[in-house]
Amino acid sequence: MNIAIIGSGYVGLVTGACLSEFGHQVTCMDKDAGKISMLQEGRIPIYEPGLEALVAKNVKGGRLHFTTELSIAMADAQAVFIAVGTPSQRRGNGYADLSYIYDAAREIAGFIKKYTVVIDKSTVPVGTGRQVERIIKETSPDADFDVVSNPEFLREGAAINDFMRPDRVVLGTESERAVDVLKEIYNPLYLNSTPFVVTGIETAELIKYAANAFLAMKISFINEMASLCESVGADVISLAKAVGLDGRIGSKFLHPGPGYGGSCFPKDTLALLRIAQEHGSSLRLVEATVEVNSAQKGKMIKKIRKALGGSEVGKTIGVLGVTFKPETDDVRDAPALTILPALHEKGAKLQVHDPQGMEEAARIFPEYTYVGDAYAACAGADAVILLTEWNQYRALDLERIRDTMKTPLFIDLRNVYDPGKMRESGFVYVGVGRGLS
Ligand code: UGA
Repeated sequence: MNIAIIGSGYVGLVTGACLSEFGHQVTCMDKDAGKISMLQEGRIPIYEPGLEALVAKNVKGGRLHFTTELSIAMADAQAVFIAVGTPSQRRGNGYADLSYIYDAAREIAGFIKKYTVVIDKSTVPVGTGRQVERIIKETSPDADFDVVSNPEFLREGAAINDFMRPDRVVLGTESERAVDVLKEIYNPLYLNSTPFVVTGIETAELIKYAANAFLAMKISFINEMASLCESVGADVISLAKAVGLDGRIGSKFLHPGPGYGGSCFPKDTLALLRIAQEHGSSLRLVEATVEVNSAQKGKMIKKIRKALGGSEVGKTIGVLGVTFKPETDDVRDAPALTILPALHEKGAKLQVHDPQGMEEAARIFPEYTYVGDAYAACAGADAVILLTEWNQYRALDLERIRDTMKTPLFIDLRNVYDPGKMRESGFVYVGVGRGLS
């Protein structure tokens, strides 16, 4: 099938690459000429494991193409995916900025020549799909089309696997004709018995927010339990394990840490609260989730300060990790963006390392020192903070680190290491929720 993808950012690019891998003819379009020429040269603007090879393979196979021209992308397309960004509005009020979606709808309308399915992949507030439908009808009254909400559930760092082996595919539409087209697009998944949930457009739009809010709520829940563990002398790792073994609860997303970050949970929880507010509903659990998450970063700053003896003035701190999670170069809303400036402002000197995120961090915080590996970050430091659980940081030569640090203080905000073993190795060890603090 011929498929057009509008927006070649993270979601658009992963979707395009994976659909071409399924055997479809895919053209990814983006207005950013720099991005498109980079892609045409075989370079990928983002770091996502496996993506570069998948793009290269399908470009070579003649199934994946890139263009800045919508007319080219849509020339023979039976299906058009809208995968443009929906950033939070600049006013910081939690509303998603939908102007890119509506502009895309208006432009698409002019190129619909035969029956076309317009598929919304971007995470959008309830009602957006209907608006897209209305805009296309108004712009091209004779256009033969259907709109489908098909939210993505891709995790950064694992996006290709998530696309190829999803837990479910959600299709929001009343049109059986459109469902047939989508089933053809996702045929390999359909044959693999992936569950398909076909529902109304509004329900599909809400499913995405509900899933992200629930996952964020699990994280805030375990972060609060971690604090309680520190007050009563309990261990959150054993607690999470035992609680998660209950099949009704599940063990995933029960890892305490410095709070959730990234481009999805922080933005989507706020957008969901606005949706509820606009419709006269309240979502008190989601409100609490957001509050707990923002307080968690403050708690981590206090934890670090306390471990440093009450003040970070004049202290050298080694920082391991700035991205919001491993296997990405993304630092958007990362806990590091709140924690590091708070320490720096109080007079700490920061020696920072991250396998992929240093370029972006250095753009935001040029005043910190960036070093080539974890050992250089720890050398001469009064403390080291492990902020992102990259695999590279899971098997560090601890003796080497201890011997080059000024004081062997290890603050492990991802609970990567075992407190007992760290203490045996001569470290003062501080984790999250690991007994009395
Ligand atoms: C999230 C969802 O997991 C995806 O299903 C969804 O498609 C995506 O948002 C989206 O809306 O596009 P992502 O933001 O890439 O994916 O990353 P996650 O793996 O979910 O992690 C989010 C944050 O939660 C990270 O900062 C991570 O460190 C934190 N986290 C996660 C915890 O602190 N504890 C956990 O147990 C799990």
